[in-house]
Amino acid sequence: MDIDACPKIELHLHLEGAAPPHFIRYLAAEKHKDIGGIFAENGDYKFTDFGHFLKIYEAATSVLTAPEDFYRLTCEVLQQSAEQGVIYTEVFVSPDFCGGCDLAAWQEYLAAIEQAAGHSEREFGIIAKGIVTCIRHFGSDQARKAARCAAETVGDFIVGFGMGGDELQGRQGDFAYSFDMAREAKLHLTTHAGEWGGAESVRQAIFDLNVERIGHGVQVIDDPALVEELVARQITLEVCPGSNLALGVYPTLSAHPIKPLRSAGVKTTISTDDPPFFHTTLGQEYRQLADTFGWTSKDFTALNRTAAEAAFCSAETRQSLLEKLEKT
Ligand code: ADE
Ligand code: ZN
Repeated sequence: MDIDACPKIELHLHLEGAAPPHFIRYLAAEKHKDIGGIFAENGDYKFTDFGHFLKIYEAATSVLTAPEDFYRLTCEVLQQSAEQGVIYTEVFVSPDFCGGCDLAAWQEYLAAIEQAAGHSEREFGIIAKGIVTCIRHFGSDQARKAARCAAETVGDFIVGFGMGGDELQGRQGDFAYSFDMAREAKLHLTTHAGEWGGAESVRQAIFDLNVERIGHGVQVIDDPALVEELVARQITLEVCPGSNLALGVYPTLSAHPIKPLRSAGVKTTISTDDPPFFHTTLGQEYRQLADTFGWTSKDFTALNRTAAEAAFCSAETRQSLLEKLEKT
């Protein structure tokens, strides 16, 4: 199977988290900003655990201070994705990192991101949509500001609202107001759950936030009844195996629950989360799944079909994605 040529759909990619280290180093130098020891000697990002990862992530993001930076970042990231065979991607964009959740500033940053997405579609044939993301450890008041930014800019590009950040802080339900606001604005909903907070966090995501998809969700495997609930509700998991291994959620791919979740009938998709941080690419994720579980092009087509069905895009875009997958 030619994995690199196979068309791919990615549903879980943090825009800033996809910034290559050289891109961040270049901007830091250009702006004479000292972002401390976030890089290893070989130039890669350097962190020890999830808490440290979030700190390094925010330090890297601190050099993105203007809409033009996000224009360049978006072009770079979408080109990277297109080179992996990605035909459709949903990127998490955070008003917190785009003018501190000020609505007027957010609109300017978003215009630059959208312009870059348009350029990338024309240049590389990749379609991108945005999911506005609040950051859990910034608290529920700040999340409301992010949700307002999302609700005010819902449209052809902004199609969803979600939450990332430190899952061990607070409860999913603390953010219900923000998710309700986003739902009323007709945005689709997803949240990071069951990456660190166990099956209980997945339960809260379903019952307290009523999301359609879950970022990671893998720890649900520890609660078989809740796995059944995911299947019954047809909730799709945005699984990021390489991220889970790099951050130490699971020690090896063989120990990762993606295979049993799929076997149980849970709707499963494959993404990279923050590829340069985790030394991965979408092609590499597919290759490792093929090597470990013997998955073939049939499996990857099925996973991509699930992703197309769960994508937060219009019915026309979904149809066209399904047709492209059909040809593989
Ligand atoms: N933000 C970027 N990557 C993340 C992850 N893996 N978990 C939670 N928040 C994130
Ligand atoms: Zn994520």
